[in-house]
Amino acid sequence: MNTVWKQTPISAEGRLGRPDEHPGRSDQDYLRRRDALAARAAGHRVGAPYAGVDYTEAEHRTWRTVHTALGPAHRAHACREAQDAAEAVDVPAERIPQHAEISPGLRARTGFAFTLAGGVVPNERFLGSMEHGYFHAVQFVRHPAVPLYTPEPDVIHDVFGHGIHLSDPRLAELYRLFGRTANRVRSEEALDILSRIYWFTLEYGLLTESGTPKAFGAALLSSFGEIAAHTVREVRALDIRAAASLPYCISGYQPVLFAARSLAHLEDTLGAFCAEFDEDTGSRLGIPSLPRNRT
Ligand SMILES: [Fe+2]
Repeated sequence: MNTVWKQTPISAEGRLGRPDEHPGRSDQDYLRRRDALAARAAGHRVGAPYAGVDYTEAEHRTWRTVHTALGPAHRAHACREAQDAAEAVDVPAERIPQHAEISPGLRARTGFAFTLAGGVVPNERFLGSMEHGYFHAVQFVRHPAVPLYTPEPDVIHDVFGHGIHLSDPRLAELYRLFGRTANRVRSEEALDILSRIYWFTLEYGLLTESGTPKAFGAALLSSFGEIAAHTVREVRALDIRAAASLPYCISGYQPVLFAARSLAHLEDTLGAFCAEFDEDTGSRLGIPSLPRNRT
């Protein structure tokens, strides 16, 4: 969750709206709660213990709504690997789990754990921590008025998206690969390229099954509105250079998604790219410098 999402929200009636119209951007009571939870991350040292959250009944209700919607959505649209990984995560249906409840299971299966984030995390820290088995996750919950869409990553995204991924050894190894690669470079430009490839693979990637692109990325797995919408967007064959050349901080759904032929294809492609990746990769491949993708 290293970037602020600016996708188009979908109302309960299915109406598309502008991200800045989302109630999570203007409800002052909501923002006070969100900001108070985000502020806990100030000064957090990666891997240090942190307190849980006393969630309200309304927040638990939002969780239940999303949990109920995502089950059938996963069965219909998620790739087999993601569905299998989801079964390994003990995600409660009735209440929001604490990070401290999720992390031990991840640790046992893949060596990963959540570490506390309050929102945007710089690429160097966000990606680099993955080498050491830490994934930055937030504690706050999306606005209750639009439970099936969030304009920014929340605890639901982090549990249903990254928590699922990080319960599977093969998927977790891809996060470590990004971490190791990020820690080999120093420049913002190189880290930006990596973050865009991360975005179009681990956040928004698709895997092809019997000729059909299926949701693989964490952002798709955790968004009821997005997981099915990939069926109506432009889907291209996985192309790392093209993915690295696309900006991703946009208003609206990602207009282009990339589909690997299989998980093995994604592993091989990312592995080969990351093995060669260095400070000069961008200029060597003619990848354009893009505006910073944070707001
Ligand atoms: Fe994410």
